[in-house]
Amino acid sequence: MPDNSKAQQTLGLIRDIDPEAIRLAFRFIELFNKPDSSVKELEEFVRSNDVLSLRVLKMVNTFATANAQHITTIDLAVGLVGYKGLREAVLSASSISILTGERGAIDTISFWTHAAACACIARALAIHCHHPHPEHGYMAGLLHDLGRRLLDVYASEGDEYQAVLDAMSSEEARALEKTLYGVDHCEIAEYALKQWGVEPFLADAVGRHHMRAEEIKHSAITDRAVLTYAIIAIALAFHLLEDEEGGPLDQELLVLVGVSEAELPAILVRAREYFGSVRVNLESLRPQGAAGR
Ligand SMILES: [Fe+2]
Ligand SMILES: [Fe+2]
Repeated sequence: MPDNSKAQQTLGLIRDIDPEAIRLAFRFIELFNKPDSSVKELEEFVRSNDVLSLRVLKMVNTFATANAQHITTIDLAVGLVGYKGLREAVLSASSISILTGERGAIDTISFWTHAAACACIARALAIHCHHPHPEHGYMAGLLHDLGRRLLDVYASEGDEYQAVLDAMSSEEARALEKTLYGVDHCEIAEYALKQWGVEPFLADAVGRHHMRAEEIKHSAITDRAVLTYAIIAIALAFHLLEDEEGGPLDQELLVLVGVSEAELPAILVRAREYFGSVRVNLESLRPQGAAGR
């Protein structure tokens, strides 16, 4: 971690963030990954947090528009969409609470859409490779650029971060972040995730998502596969997003996780299906009449 006063000042701001949203997402992910977790546990988890309950109900009611019934309780919601539907609604609701907000230069809807596309591809890669925790891939993809939100919302004056968004390349953007804040978005996110006590694989993956295959091979990483799924997903996200241009995909990354180029179309089909439902959820959260921010 950089040891200059500007960096220390920026990192100090992270200590003031209420980590409740992050904790919520993680409690859910733990539950999601427990093979024996029951519908009762999931219901209790949702009920224990008022904001999450409201969001889940709002989403479930969006799914259920064809049905005249208006859902007002979590048990009715489970009855309608089933355990799987509720899990997906909660996953989206808890993720969104981390990433959305009104302040800053970043358009939160497109930020989230990009993050979700990366998350869905990383998850599909993890499933394809029989990784024991596909949701780790999802979270790494989802949060890879968390640091950009943190710098934009917590460390910037007004629209200061706009200059980073206007940079010509990701290298230039990171160099500018260093100049403005003393740290880049990878460093601040890694620091924040460690502060919040999340599982080490995530801080590692988020902090290293600009690494090249060659560097990945030679560094100590909690879960090399999860990091690699996230980096591949970032390069492939344009397949799911109309307004993004494709970048080069380092073939060595595919070698690292044992996936061939010929397998990618099937992986993208799976990712696209999942992304479709996440996108519907996201739209349901857009404030009424808002064109996006
Ligand atoms: Fe990044
Ligand atoms: Fe990104």
